[in-house]
Amino acid sequence: METARGRVLSVASECVPLLKTGGLADVVGALPGALAAEGWEMRVLMPCYRPLKWRLEEMEEGFAEADLFGGPGRVMAGEVAGRKMLLLDAPHLYDREGGPYAGPDGDWGDNAQRFAALSWIGARIAREGLGDGWRPDVVHAHDWQAGFTPAYMDYWGSGGASSVLTVHNIAFQGWAPASLLSALRLPPQEFHPAALEYYGGLSSLKAGLVSADHITTVSPTYACELMRPEFGMGLQGVIAQRAGQVTGILNGVDTDIWSPEVEERPYNAASLKAKAENRAVLSGAFKLSVPGPLAILVSRLTYQKGIDLIPEVLPDFIAAGGGLAVLGTGDAPLEAAMRELEVRFPGRVGVRIGYDEGLSHLMFAGGDAVLVPSRFEPCGLTQMYGLRYGAVPVVALTGGLADTIINANPAAMAAGCATGLTFHPTEPPAFAEALRRLIHLHADPAAWETVQRNAMRHPVGWETSAAAYAALYRELMA
Ligand code: ADP
Ligand code: GLC
Repeated sequence: METARGRVLSVASECVPLLKTGGLADVVGALPGALAAEGWEMRVLMPCYRPLKWRLEEMEEGFAEADLFGGPGRVMAGEVAGRKMLLLDAPHLYDREGGPYAGPDGDWGDNAQRFAALSWIGARIAREGLGDGWRPDVVHAHDWQAGFTPAYMDYWGSGGASSVLTVHNIAFQGWAPASLLSALRLPPQEFHPAALEYYGGLSSLKAGLVSADHITTVSPTYACELMRPEFGMGLQGVIAQRAGQVTGILNGVDTDIWSPEVEERPYNAASLKAKAENRAVLSGAFKLSVPGPLAILVSRLTYQKGIDLIPEVLPDFIAAGGGLAVLGTGDAPLEAAMRELEVRFPGRVGVRIGYDEGLSHLMFAGGDAVLVPSRFEPCGLTQMYGLRYGAVPVVALTGGLADTIINANPAAMAAGCATGLTFHPTEPPAFAEALRRLIHLHADPAAWETVQRNAMRHPVGWETSAAAYAALYRELMA
């Protein structure tokens, strides 16, 4: 196999195992290993938030910057769980009590500066390299937090490196008032609609979209959706203009971590027996007794994820014998709605409000089906965990969900390739109909096991996608 080796700097706001609020961290954390298999060396630059500070003791200084948007900053380099990490230590921006994007009173007021600083340093590493002489051939920026990176490379020099911007979710655009233009070290002459201006202000995501040499997003279907007003959220025109440089590359999942064979009660496609034991343990943990399919939901509880549809479709599903275990956090009204369901359907609905990685593993191992009724879903990871664990995915036909799940319609059943149930549009009638199909499928043991096995055999690892990124990097370097 041809392996054109090169160096890639990944710039992101979160990365497994250091800090995670969503799938972005999983993907950023998985790429270095996946790309290493393709012969690429990737280092990841991210902010040193307060919970990460202790790690600095084991790291070495890459370089320092005296004035990084209002205070000193330095890049610290070291290895964490096999990943070459660069932590941006800038206490005035990141050393505070709270989450990476918000504190007790909502979003941090200086998020524009906080993530412009991250992007600035990413561009500086491209331009000048690190203390040890390391310099990237390609800079790979992720989402709005790193959106200014390609722009700074454009305006202040890139040292010859190419830039890629990956859109994980267009809903978050990094909006800032135009008055910050010079404070963010952006050239005033670039404040016009074809460059930095966005509805009278600034958007770090738009800046990245117009400046990056190439744009990727996390599934082929979302790449098309992004150019339409229903999904582009104001940026559809900007993306459509660059259609020739937009590629959808599906995410993978870490199949070493997400495998029913490494769980406490292991099973695989050849022997599903222990799945029933996992189901029993899961039922016990949520105090459930469910005669039909036990569905799970592991999700941020937000509008994007279609969580408000659950209370509408659940009564019929419960009446038909189904049950539901929920793990999630998010918008207060949706958390309350989930809690109400638990009270309304004791023994059939169990709810944990919170974030619990370990419990999520038990849920996939014990669940019969995983529900993903998203209004939009750039890629989605939980439906892929569902495939791996034979927890049959019931998903809305959008974005990466449409690219990963094969609907169990008669044709797919006859062809032996069905892996789940899909529905469209993301509205109660279609969702309810999919749940009725779930009940019927589950009641037919032979058909059910066939779908489970198809699902478990469906490849969801990083191999194909890593090769696609490697090919893109190679192309950019050429
Ligand atoms: P998004 O990034 O939009 O939230 P993804 O499906 O790409 O959606 O990724 C979500 C990730 O976060 C998955 O790894 C999922 O298992 C995990 N996750 C979401 N909510 C929870 C939770 N409450 N507890 C544990 N893991 C969670
Ligand atoms: C975003 C998207 C999700 C995707 C993840 C990783 O959070 O909402 O669909 O899987 O990024 O790319």
